[in-house]
Amino acid sequence: MSVTASTPSFADDTPGRAPGLVLGIESSCDETGVALVHASGQGVPRLEAHALHSQIEMHQAYGGVVPELASRDHIRRVLPLATQVLAAAGRSLAEVDVVAYTRGPGLAGALLVGSGVACALGAALGRPVLGVHHLEGHLLSPFLSADPPEFPFVALLVSGGHTQLMRVDAVGEYQILGETIDDAAGEAFDKSAKLMGLGYPGGPALSRLAETGDPAAFKLPRPLLHSGDLDFSFAGLKTAVLTQARKLGDALESRKPDLAASTQAAIVEVLLKKSMAALRQTGLRRLVVAGGVGANRELRQRLNAACLVARVRVHYPELHLCTDNGAMIAMAAAMRLQSGRAQAGRDYSFDVRPRWPLDAIDT
Ligand code: KG4
Ligand code: ZN
Repeated sequence: MSVTASTPSFADDTPGRAPGLVLGIESSCDETGVALVHASGQGVPRLEAHALHSQIEMHQAYGGVVPELASRDHIRRVLPLATQVLAAAGRSLAEVDVVAYTRGPGLAGALLVGSGVACALGAALGRPVLGVHHLEGHLLSPFLSADPPEFPFVALLVSGGHTQLMRVDAVGEYQILGETIDDAAGEAFDKSAKLMGLGYPGGPALSRLAETGDPAAFKLPRPLLHSGDLDFSFAGLKTAVLTQARKLGDALESRKPDLAASTQAAIVEVLLKKSMAALRQTGLRRLVVAGGVGANRELRQRLNAACLVARVRVHYPELHLCTDNGAMIAMAAAMRLQSGRAQAGRDYSFDVRPRWPLDAIDT
């Protein structure tokens, strides 16, 4: 890839200005994602192209993500993906106005790859760079869909590492209403799947198996369902699944679809009930679901049905943009810049934030 700088198509870095063409790089875990989003006015920024390389196959042999392997693979993939995205959009690197990257949370080594490449590109092009919060990327990913939401809304953020309910009033205005006190919903899927021998990542495998099972076959706990608050707890569920699997012994093999369906039903019921409670509590009539678990078909069907009855509009990211991708990072950067919540900078030194709570996003 050759790097030739030219005059930026936007005049300066004034906060709130439409940022123009944003190149986004995601490398926080086991997916390398690169995308181009264009924001020319105050309307919803438009996705021009995105490309993704998933490392799932590479990590499968180990039953989970191996951080060192993840970092090395991001190094191999990120520039070829950027070239691919520019070609798909019919753009040259010189047209990029801002380079955005995932600053955290995530695996430190993996984050360093995307941050390093983004800052090097920014420096070479003389363009400003912006570090983005990975969860804000997920949260704003439904704005990439054909029917984007409007503020304010309740957000159910269900990724591999986080489960949170939020009140979202605008870009950067996030009030956490409840969150998990231990495992995330994605972890509950992944850990239950692992102990059923379904491999990694467990969520999609478990939900596929659940399609042929009976969700009422096993009585599994619905942690904190009646706690009266909006917090979650999923650690006890995986222990209950383990106990049930041990009890089944040799019968486990033939009962796996039933156990998978029962596990999924327990997770989905808690997510559903707490989301509806958050809507009642805030009085809001719009729900946004984001993060990898948002791809779960059962969760979508149950939420759609409940929201129809409650006259609530529900928005999801497109299925292929539920899990990690570069489009959500470019989008979050474009929306932050457009709203004036952030300013891209020309200081090309960088640090990553492997742990970075969403309510500390401006720190
Ligand atoms: O948002 P994400 O890509 O990564 C994080 O930021 O953590 O979410 C990954 C999580 C994994 O736990 C994966 O098992 C889960 O999303 N997942 C699913 C489905 N697709 C992905 N869980 C349930 N059903 C699915 N269809
Ligand atoms: Zn993610």
